[in-house]
Amino acid sequence: MAEQDSRTPTGPGGHSRRKFLRGSGLAAASAVLTSQAAVAIEEAQAEAAAAEPKLLSGEAPLTLKVNGEEKSCTVEPRSTLLDTLRDRLDVTGPKRVCDRASCGACTVILDGDPVYSCTTLAVSCKGKTIETVEGFDIGEGGVPHAFHQHDGLMCGYCTPGFVTACKAYLDKNPGKTPTLEDVKRGLDGNICRCGTYMGVFEAALAAAKTMKGA
Ligand code: FES
Ligand code: FES
Repeated sequence: MAEQDSRTPTGPGGHSRRKFLRGSGLAAASAVLTSQAAVAIEEAQAEAAAAEPKLLSGEAPLTLKVNGEEKSCTVEPRSTLLDTLRDRLDVTGPKRVCDRASCGACTVILDGDPVYSCTTLAVSCKGKTIETVEGFDIGEGGVPHAFHQHDGLMCGYCTPGFVTACKAYLDKNPGKTPTLEDVKRGLDGNICRCGTYMGVFEAALAAAKTMKGA
């Protein structure tokens, strides 16, 4: 049996005052902790609710700047830029071939950069400039003309994408005289199943020369 500390006054219930005070202190501390924890949990729950992604559905109006023109339509949040251009805005230059970011037929120029429109959300293009093959100069100084002159196409499925990627590359490298290796690298996101690569590269080199001389 534990020996009672002779210095510890004992209360009526057989509990020492020290034990009583220690116990009530712990109870008070845990009450404070419990209320703090409850507040913290409530705050965390409120934060989690605020951070929870909202489920968006239905269609919303969207205006896109395509080839210098404001074009409006309605789109679902999940609509791709390719679907929107082709099916809603009647801009059919970008082609749907693989529909999974591997061939480049759907290439458009977004704020100066070539992108695959089949994997770009239309809503993410709000306020940006979109250039498609329809907006390019088709005269003698233009990239489409160079493709025509150098047989840069066969079936034509890949052609708008190549022309667009080529235009983006040349716009980004004004005044440069690219080498064959440069244009191969500049167009390496595009595939031609008909194998017209040599015509495409020659067209790109010729267009660069024309643009530099212009
Ligand atoms: S259709 Fe977009 S990359 Fe092929
Ligand atoms: S010309 Fe046919 S896929 Fe390129």
